[in-house]
Amino acid sequence: MNSGGGVKTHRDIYDVVSIILEGEVETLGKKATPYDVIFYATGKPHSIYNRGNNAAREVAFEFHTNKVSLIIRIPYLLSYYFHKLIKLKFWKSKLKKILRF
Ligand SMILES: [Fe+2]
Repeated sequence: MNSGGGVKTHRDIYDVVSIILEGEVETLGKKATPYDVIFYATGKPHSIYNRGNNAAREVAFEFHTNKVSLIIRIPYLLSYYFHKLIKLKFWKSKLKKILRF
């Protein structure tokens, strides 16, 4: 991730663990530096931005789940897709992809 770059606020439908390898990032309202471990719970809004002057690197582990576990996460999934449904930008990008074919 280049200096000043990042990923804006979003939600994932699975747990994610991120380990910062290099640089300085801001996520969940805090600064994270190399070897910090960050846990993003399913459905929890989060973003990450490189606030340092140099490139930042991370390794992320996404804990995709099986169908039984998905049932437990239905509230999170409904929230996730509801947020997608009300985002005009999401539908614009989908429409652009469809029109390209
Ligand atoms: Fe994420």
